[in-house]
Amino acid sequence: MVALTTMVDYNVEQGVAVLTLNNPPVNALSQGVRQGLKEGVEKALADDSASAILIYCEGRTFIAGADISEFSSKPMGPDFHAVLSTMDASAKPIVAAIHGTALGGGLETALCCNYRVAVPSAKFGLPEVNLGLLPGAGGTQRLPRVVGVEKTLAMVTTGVPIGAAEAFELGLVDQLVEGDLRTEALAFAVAKGAQGGSHPRVRDNDAKLQSAKENPEIFAATRKMLARKTRGFLAPEYNIRCIEAAVNQPFDEGMKTEAKLFGELMTGPQSQAQQYFFFSERQAAKVPGLDKATEELPITKVGVIGGGLMGGGISMNFANAGIPVTIVETNQPALDRGLGTIRKNYENTARKGRLTAEAVEQRCGLVTGTLDMADLADCDLIIEAVFENMAVKKEIFTRLDGIAKPGAILASNTSALDLNEIASVTSRPESVIGLHFFSPANVMKLLEVVRGEKTSDAVIKTGMALAKRIKKVAILVGVCPGFVGNRILFARQFEAARLALEGAPYEQVDKVLFDFGFPMGAFQMGDLAGLDLGWDKDNSNPMDVKDRLCDLGRYGQKTGAGFYDYDDKRMATPSAITTDMFAEVAGSLGVERGEISDEEILDRCILPMINEGAKILEEGIAVRASDIDVCYVYGYGWPVYRGGPMHYANSMGLDKVLEKLRHYQTVSGDDFWAPSALLVSLVEKGERFK
Ligand code: 3HC
Repeated sequence: MVALTTMVDYNVEQGVAVLTLNNPPVNALSQGVRQGLKEGVEKALADDSASAILIYCEGRTFIAGADISEFSSKPMGPDFHAVLSTMDASAKPIVAAIHGTALGGGLETALCCNYRVAVPSAKFGLPEVNLGLLPGAGGTQRLPRVVGVEKTLAMVTTGVPIGAAEAFELGLVDQLVEGDLRTEALAFAVAKGAQGGSHPRVRDNDAKLQSAKENPEIFAATRKMLARKTRGFLAPEYNIRCIEAAVNQPFDEGMKTEAKLFGELMTGPQSQAQQYFFFSERQAAKVPGLDKATEELPITKVGVIGGGLMGGGISMNFANAGIPVTIVETNQPALDRGLGTIRKNYENTARKGRLTAEAVEQRCGLVTGTLDMADLADCDLIIEAVFENMAVKKEIFTRLDGIAKPGAILASNTSALDLNEIASVTSRPESVIGLHFFSPANVMKLLEVVRGEKTSDAVIKTGMALAKRIKKVAILVGVCPGFVGNRILFARQFEAARLALEGAPYEQVDKVLFDFGFPMGAFQMGDLAGLDLGWDKDNSNPMDVKDRLCDLGRYGQKTGAGFYDYDDKRMATPSAITTDMFAEVAGSLGVERGEISDEEILDRCILPMINEGAKILEEGIAVRASDIDVCYVYGYGWPVYRGGPMHYANSMGLDKVLEKLRHYQTVSGDDFWAPSALLVSLVEKGERFK
């Protein structure tokens, strides 16, 4: 065995040169891997004792792609293209032995091999689009030559990988192996080495491009299908152009098109934001300062108090993960309704072909209901999901304290209330945590894990790990009104309403936010969430348009009217009632009205979010700036190609952000705009949000 680099070993076995890659955790194509691969192939070509080459990876996976952490630094040789050219020109057959995930540059490496052997659990994909990129090492030119244009378009525009069985059917895998991958792939390589003659090269076979040549409408159809979902993103369109090039240009020209478009994306702001986000998401799971020896608590049975929209959605997460869950309601009709909604949701998913009938029954079977809170005595985790009222929550936690077994985690799904106050009514505040799910809780990926003053490390560790188990992305937050997500949202919603009072049509405010990349604007969001959320009928504020709409029974989408009017398909039309109401309230308050530019609207909606985020960091409510970004992308539809509010601020330049905040503070004379001390100090030091 010869170590070519610290990441690649070379040895010859049964006449096959075996290149063994070992670059944990995912065998990314770091410099040492690229160098080892190139040298290994060259060595094997010159080695008379080897008649074939096998690429095999140690650890949990085949190469999962280029090393994304190297993208931001000066590239060190050898260039990945040079590695692949060496492989492509090899006179000796190269076989890839694939397990785990062959993704991005990993699949591109495999496509430069003459043969691919894989285990049935292997996955194959080109997920570069998720990083704002396209496969830049021939993936867009080679994959359609193997799996066809239609399949490639689906793979590169969604980034979703395919399984080994499908890959085998499509011809991407030459042999599936049930036994030991290394042994069987070696035997395959021995046979190919002995076979003599020439070996297939992906680049030489155009047969599977033919149908798209005859049916070029496939590209227009793909664009049309993706238009809504990929609004604002550059990478999906660039990927499509590359596949078009594969069909319409000779291979080498197509490669040039791919390289040009890849370069444009790589140096553009969208990909930088999405690469940043890739690492931010993974970073969020890491809690600094937690004692490594802290053990997670076992969670095998969960209780949920409240079977409404929120409680039901929360329960589905556990059922999906195979964890039994008991829902508590106050009366039988409410319980029946809650359980019925869960079943209906699962059946809808099954109707769309995304769940089998068997799985529907299995998941519904994991959700039981009761009217007696005492039935939660054996639960490891109990989540309270009733409406936002401190007195009610305190009463529930007092009762739970007497019912739950020792060591059980008592969680509140509060979205804004003081968790410490809730914990204070129990004899075990160390077991109390916030688990703030976002609606619809069975769909939204974000979870705010709220750390109370006395929450123990074990409970925090369990909360963060549980999030992963139920496929959520968690950020750890401290206690303050609205925590991270809603606190920042309050600032934006407040200013959006003020813009409408000052004369900007509220639908203009929404359009500016939509054009920025949010799925909906501030007022549309209010209508979706329900304007009556937090509204108190007896203390309705006549100077608040939202309250006045509620007075009229206009609660939002659910009542067919809120800020907007809705038809039976929930299509929104601006309402004269709302427009007049803003004018009337402005008149009563003596607010001067006039036209407001889109640019000012955007500034005045986004800058308060950044400033509030900075205050949150300053107060230690969020662990790191990137957690705020994760929160905003997953919880509030911030466009990932803009990274999140803190990344966006960094890319604007913090000095510019500060200058604008000061400008609005001066013109409005309102301390709402006072910049956070952290922001001021970062600007003074010439630093950015880290
Ligand atoms: N480069 C650098 N680091 C990577 C990486 C990559 N391509 N892929 C994963 N990692 C790191 C993660 O940051 C994480 O690090 P951490 O432990 O320090 O946080 C660690 O590997 C494990 O990753 P996950 O937590 O995501 O592990 P999972 O088991 O959940 O998932 C995976 C594994 C499916 C491979 C997932 O990590 C993934 O999807 N990775 C990205 C794959 C990708 O996008 N490949 C294309 C890269 S771009 C490219 O190849 C360009 C080419 O066309 C030229």
